[in-house]
Amino acid sequence: MRTQVGIIGAGPAGLLLSHLLHLRGISSVVLERRSREYVERRVRAGVLEQGTVDTLVAAGVGERLLREGLPHEGIELRYGGAAHRIPFEKLVPGRRITVYGQQEVVKDLIAARLEAGGDLRFEVDDVELHDLTGAPYVTFGGDRLDCEVIAGCDGFHGVSRPSIPEGVLTVFEREYPFAWLGVLARVRPSAEELIYARNERGFALHSMRSPEVSRFYLQVPPDADLADWPDERVWAELKARLETVPGFTLETGEIIEKGVTPMRGFVAEPMQYGRLYLAGDSAHIVPPTGAKGLNLAVADVNALTEALAAYFATGSAGLLDGYSAACLRRVWRAQHFSWWMTTLLHTFDDEDAYARRLQLSYLDYVTSSMAAATTLAENYVGLS
Ligand code: FAD
Ligand code: DHB
Repeated sequence: MRTQVGIIGAGPAGLLLSHLLHLRGISSVVLERRSREYVERRVRAGVLEQGTVDTLVAAGVGERLLREGLPHEGIELRYGGAAHRIPFEKLVPGRRITVYGQQEVVKDLIAARLEAGGDLRFEVDDVELHDLTGAPYVTFGGDRLDCEVIAGCDGFHGVSRPSIPEGVLTVFEREYPFAWLGVLARVRPSAEELIYARNERGFALHSMRSPEVSRFYLQVPPDADLADWPDERVWAELKARLETVPGFTLETGEIIEKGVTPMRGFVAEPMQYGRLYLAGDSAHIVPPTGAKGLNLAVADVNALTEALAAYFATGSAGLLDGYSAACLRRVWRAQHFSWWMTTLLHTFDDEDAYARRLQLSYLDYVTSSMAAATTLAENYVGLS
C-alpha cells in the first residue's frame, strides 16, 4: 500500500491534517491504535482559540461548532473571597474563545473524512516506523504502508517520537507536583463564564460543555487514585473551592465521567527527523491551565499543511525544512504562558508564607493593571 502522507494517530492533529491535505489534493492514510468509539468519547479539552475556530470553519468542518459552540468574551479569576473578570471584549476587542468539546471536534473530523472517502484505520496494532531518512514506510498488524512523508500525530505516549534515534532530540521537561482531576457532570453551568479559582485547598476550574453539561477540574496530588474520589467528595471539594464569593452556589448533578491527568511541560526539539514530522502532543505538552494543547496541535497542523502543499506542488522542501523552527517559537510562548497561569493559580506543598503572599500580590496585579490583564487576555485568546 502506498500514500503520500502516512499519519500516525487519529486525535485532533492527525484527523485535521488528513482533512486539510485532502482539501489540497494530497493523499493520506491515518493509523489509529484505539477504536473509533474510544476516540470519539475521550473527554479532554474544551477551549478553542479564535484561530482554531477559523481553521475548522474554513476547512468546512465548523457547522456544528458554530451552532453548538459557546462563545466567551471573558473569564473569571476567583481568589481571596472575590471574583475578578478579565474582559476580552475590552482588552482584546474582536477576539474571543469558544467552548466546544475536543471529542466533538474529533467526531466532526471523522465524519468529514469518512464522507470524503478518507482512509482511516482504527484499532491497528504494532505500528512501527522505518527508514525515516530514506524511503519511509510504516508496518502495522502485518501490513505495510509506503509513504513520502510520515506525520507523527500520536500524542505524548505514541511511537513516532521514540522512533527517532537517540541523541537526535533535545528534550525539555518540567513535572508539576500535582495532577488535575477532571469531571464531566450532567448539570447546568453555575456561571456563564469559566471560573479559574485559586484557593488554599488547591486550584479549581469551573467550565462547561452545553447548557445542560458542566466540566470541572480540581488540583489533586500527583498520585491521586480515582477510588479515593467518590462523587460526594468531588462535589464537597468543588463547593469548598468555588463557593467563596457571596451569592454563588454550585449546582450539583450526576457525574458522567471522571479522570486524573498528570501535569507536565515537555518539548522535544527539533520536531522533525528525516521524513518524519511531529505535530501536537507527540512533540510537546503543556499543563492545561492555559488551555493551549489542542490549539497548539491545530497551529502545528496548519504549518505542516502549508509546508507539505508547497513540497508536493513544487518539490521545494524549504518550508518543510523550516517547519520545526516555525512551530517552536509559538510552542515556547505557550509553554511560558501555561507555566505562568499554573504557578499563579495552584498551591505548592513546599511554598512558604512569603511565596503565597507573592502569588496573591501577582493576582492583584493581574486583575487591577490593564497591562497585566491584557497580557493574560491576549495569550489566552491566542497570539496569532
Ligand atoms: P492526542 O489527542 O493525544 O491524539 C493522539 C492519537 O494517537 C490518539 O488517538 C492515540 O490513541 C493515538 N496513538 C497513540 N499511540 C499510537 C500508536 N502507537 N499507534 C497508533 N495510534 C496511536 N488543550 C486545549 O487546547 N484546551 C483545553 O482546554 C485543554 N484541556 C485539556 C484537559 C485535559 C484533561 C487534557 C488531558 C488535555 C487538555 N488539553 C487542552 C490538551 C489537548 O487535549 C491535547 O493537547 C490534544 O489532545 C492534542 O491532540 P493530538 O492529536 O496531538 O494528540
Ligand atoms: C477546559 C480545559 C482547560 O484546560 C482549561 O484551561 C479551561 C477549560 C475545559 O475542558 O473546558
